[in-house]
Amino acid sequence: MEIRIDHLDNIRVAAQEFIAHIGDSKVFAFYGKMGAGKTTFVKAICEELGVEDVITSPTFAIINEYTTGQEQTAIYHFDFYRIKKLEEVYDMGYEDYFYSGALCFIEWPELIEEILPDDAVRVNITEQPDGSRLVTF
Ligand SMILES: Nc1ncnc2c1ncn2[C@@H]1O[C@H](COP(=O)(O)OP(=O)(O)OP(=O)(O)O)[C@@H](O)[C@H]1O
Ligand SMILES: [Mg+2]
Repeated sequence: MEIRIDHLDNIRVAAQEFIAHIGDSKVFAFYGKMGAGKTTFVKAICEELGVEDVITSPTFAIINEYTTGQEQTAIYHFDFYRIKKLEEVYDMGYEDYFYSGALCFIEWPELIEEILPDDAVRVNITEQPDGSRLVTF
């Protein structure tokens, strides 16, 4: 599957298209260079999913928890860029998130490749010469 984001103004449509393809998958690993647009796209997806609250733990910069709707469904957004040892990820109890059945969006999955669930969906984001972004999965 390939989604092109030709301009930031159109990111909502791209996010909706992505959401239409989520299916039963829960864990999504977003690969892409620094500045490719991972955070921007994940946030757009969360907004389109109706996120109401963002819960950022001040002591815990790796994970953001979002809640949507009346039932307060959780979505977890991870950024493992600053991880130095896998031990840090074990210590945060990653399994409680990855196998919770909640949607998990992961930036810098290369740094936790060994513990990525087998059924994680690998998403690639690349910036094109014209500044557009190509999302493939
Ligand atoms: N689809 C897009 N079209 C145009 N500009 C974009 C798009 N997505 C992101 N950008 C811009 O690119 C910059 C980097 O975006 P973002 O922070 O989402 O990248 P990232 O992949 O999360 O980077 P990092 O690896 O540092 O976390 C931001 O200034 C953002 O506005
Ligand atoms: Mg980012």
